[in-house]
Amino acid sequence: MNRTNAPGSPAVTNAPATFQVKSFGCQMNVYDGERMAEMLGERGMTAAAEGTDADLVILNTCHIREKAVDRVYSDIGRMTREDGSRPMIAVAGCVAQAEGSEISRRAKTVDIVVGPQAYHRLPDLIAKAGRGEEAIDTDMPADSKFDTLPARTRQTRPTAFLTIMEGCDKFCTYCVVPYTRGAEISRSWSAILDEAKALVDGGVKEITLLGQNVNAWTGQDDRGQMQGMDGLVRELAKIDALKRIRYTTSHPNDMSDGLIAAHGEVAKLMPFLHLPVQSGNDRILKAMNRSHSVESYLRIIDRVRTARPDIAISSDFIVGFPGESDAEFEDTLRIVEQVRYAQCYSFKYSPRPGTPAAGMDGQIAPELMDERLARLQAVINREQVAFNNTTVGSRTDILLERKGRYPGQLIGKTPWLQSVHLTAPDHAIGDMIEVDILSAGPNSLAGEPSRRKAA
Ligand code: SAH
Ligand code: SF4
Ligand code: F3S
Repeated sequence: MNRTNAPGSPAVTNAPATFQVKSFGCQMNVYDGERMAEMLGERGMTAAAEGTDADLVILNTCHIREKAVDRVYSDIGRMTREDGSRPMIAVAGCVAQAEGSEISRRAKTVDIVVGPQAYHRLPDLIAKAGRGEEAIDTDMPADSKFDTLPARTRQTRPTAFLTIMEGCDKFCTYCVVPYTRGAEISRSWSAILDEAKALVDGGVKEITLLGQNVNAWTGQDDRGQMQGMDGLVRELAKIDALKRIRYTTSHPNDMSDGLIAAHGEVAKLMPFLHLPVQSGNDRILKAMNRSHSVESYLRIIDRVRTARPDIAISSDFIVGFPGESDAEFEDTLRIVEQVRYAQCYSFKYSPRPGTPAAGMDGQIAPELMDERLARLQAVINREQVAFNNTTVGSRTDILLERKGRYPGQLIGKTPWLQSVHLTAPDHAIGDMIEVDILSAGPNSLAGEPSRRKAA
């Protein structure tokens, strides 16, 4: 199906047969994108083959920084083909939620706008758009999308994401997520376990539990007892064919004693913790409304390391928050060295419309932010290389996840989330194998299947 751009062009009534979902932003968007694709597949649509034009393109967008939003509009602009035709265009995700009908005003070629809590209604919206009607849905409906979406289909990869809670009640002063994803809502114990079992029955070996504050999950188990995420992890670990459990993103304030203990007790819970701190300075943390201090954060790290000494820690950082002085920024460099992170994400502060920080005094000049980001990334990279180097000469299990760039090359992940490149002719994707780590680079390791039995 092709649509033309001519103003007042007649509505196209034939339904799209093929689709493409492009997800940006966090893993929760990747998960949502997969669920959308599965739902459309169930409705008889097919995913457009790689390199071919789809009848419907869904841009599953991210609103977290200005750059992410600019990207959406430039993508929309590029979708009109040389002959003036274009696919049906849907904007989903957090930009859809934040900007709503503003999107179709700014980009006239957008046919559908659908928020992250309403995408189970996509089939209706597609029908509406096909009739040339306005198709905008940014409700946060009481009927959860999860109750309406089809069950998970057989997966093509051995790893899968599983969203267990959504939304955020924390309101960090720089962040749009509480507005785009709404309040914290936990999915039910049984819905999560059913989905996990369906994924494992479909060949999945590793599940990453997802949520904007995943460790804020709470719910009743099947005996009516209140549980936290640690209880859920312990229950998931009972699924025999499930080999690895991960979770992200966790908030320092929701690191319960039970979850910390689980890291020392549940073998399937991988020794990796993404625990963003954002800044190494207490005044900045306060201005960010992070509700933890540097010290309380470091105390959590200590306790987690006591429970699981080999755990790898990662974080997110923002440089150039309004009012950040040189000395305050340098505190951030210090905490990176102090914690010895395995890896980190770092961002320049991006003022977001409607957030308190966007109106604060002391907005930092872009050039200074660039300089701070470069200095921070140099320290982060140094720590990451040092962490990877510690694994050289060791023996570990990896889960083979995908093919590498070279013929016969496979890529697997260590428990600490490092990619290992290797050739393993006797093994296939989905196998868990023991390897010896031969060398380390900044972003990956090289290894070989271990030949002798471990002593
Ligand atoms: N809930 C998670 C993070 C979700 S957003 C948490 O609290 O850790 C992912 C990361 O984007 C954040 O950790 C933060 O580092 C970054 N981020 C969020 N808003 C931002 C903004 N306005 N400018 C720059 N980075 C931002
Ligand atoms: Fe954003 Fe803070 Fe919520 Fe994370 S905890 S999603 S940074 S408001
Ligand atoms: Fe982006 Fe929304 Fe995720 S703003 S980071 S896609 S929750």
